Amino acid sequence: MSLPVRRFAPRLYKQTTTRFNNSSLSSRLASQTRFYATRQALQFPKARKSGPSPVAIGTVVAGVALGYFLFKASGGDNTVARNFDADWRKVDYNKVYREIAELLEDEDYDDGSYGPVFVRLAWHTSGTFDKTKGDGGSTGGTIRFHPEAGYGANAGLDIARNRLEVVKRNNPQISYGDLYTLAGVVAVQELGGPVIPWRPGREERLSASSCTSDGRLPDGAKGASHVRDIFYRMGFDDKEITALIGAHTLGRCHPNRSGFDGPWNASPTTFTNFFFTELKNQDWVPKKWDGPFQYVDKASGQFMMLPADMAFLTDPKFRVYVDKYADDEEAFFKDFAGAFSKLLSLGVKFPDDAPVYKFKTLDL
Ligand code: HEM
Repeated sequence: MSLPVRRFAPRLYKQTTTRFNNSSLSSRLASQTRFYATRQALQFPKARKSGPSPVAIGTVVAGVALGYFLFKASGGDNTVARNFDADWRKVDYNKVYREIAELLEDEDYDDGSYGPVFVRLAWHTSGTFDKTKGDGGSTGGTIRFHPEAGYGANAGLDIARNRLEVVKRNNPQISYGDLYTLAGVVAVQELGGPVIPWRPGREERLSASSCTSDGRLPDGAKGASHVRDIFYRMGFDDKEITALIGAHTLGRCHPNRSGFDGPWNASPTTFTNFFFTELKNQDWVPKKWDGPFQYVDKASGQFMMLPADMAFLTDPKFRVYVDKYADDEEAFFKDFAGAFSKLLSLGVKFPDDAPVYKFKTLDL
């Protein structure tokens, strides 16, 4: 099999990757919590004979007040404890861009970069938009609130949100919608993709009230007509949809998130047109395993395609653009930049004076 050539400061594809295992992490945390409580008990073994001291009462009252404040500040949601007054004019976006870029690389995470999961966060933050109803989209950064945070399609995106929390702390006046979409821009650019025009000014929301209902994002197990239903609802055409799916050049599927498994190609941390070249050039066969139905390349069995990805090969209208983007990476980069920029803006009422940024890629 001819493996694709990697470009742009390539990173070796790790055959064995470190996977984030939510269940083992939570059981580890649970046992740590128990251990900590036990140590506290050991340090203060004797029960007080008299009633609680004024200091103890004061401490409890202060603790309850702080807890209540944090709960209210997070809109009653406990995934993100901090919310600040967003004021887009006071944020230095070039500084934020750099801070996000500095968070991308981590040898111990997945294939060595948070870039792919940042792109996915930006997309799932925005892809709830419904052009008929006029709701959904990245305004408010509602993906951080339950129930939206807990929808099956968003499994694993807490990892991206938690990674970005330090940027919010350093730049309290950026709204979460701006932060999550900008993270996608930084990731695409810094992993070798095109410059993505991006505007700030997404309004902040402090509660879950504008979360949309579940089921607005595409299901990887389905085919072309489902994919069209989902993306037409957002206002995209076949060319834009095909350009957008090219983001599956990045990252991988994780059994503990979507149930599917594996990367799409050998350079999952470099933005290329390989999604299209591999889709066309490999023989894709059903994977033999206990998991959900998906495809693997016949030659090595290391790379994968979702049933929804295969729809772009078999559907004649999508296929026109697959052929074009496989032959012409420049055309793909241009159309992807336009479609991704549009995706991140869906439904957003930008302030009239919010400028369009075209950030310089840093290549850190
Ligand atoms: C038909 C439409 C789509 C379907 C069915 C789909 C489905 C999926 C699935 C099942 C995963 C694996 C998640 C995991 O297990 O971690 C995934 C990952 C990913 N998707 Fe999509 N997706 C679609 C469109 C898009 C679009 C439009 C973008 C961005 C423009 C995108 C960007 C990504 C990225 C970068 C990853 C890798 C994430 C990581 O490595 O953590 N996808 N997608």
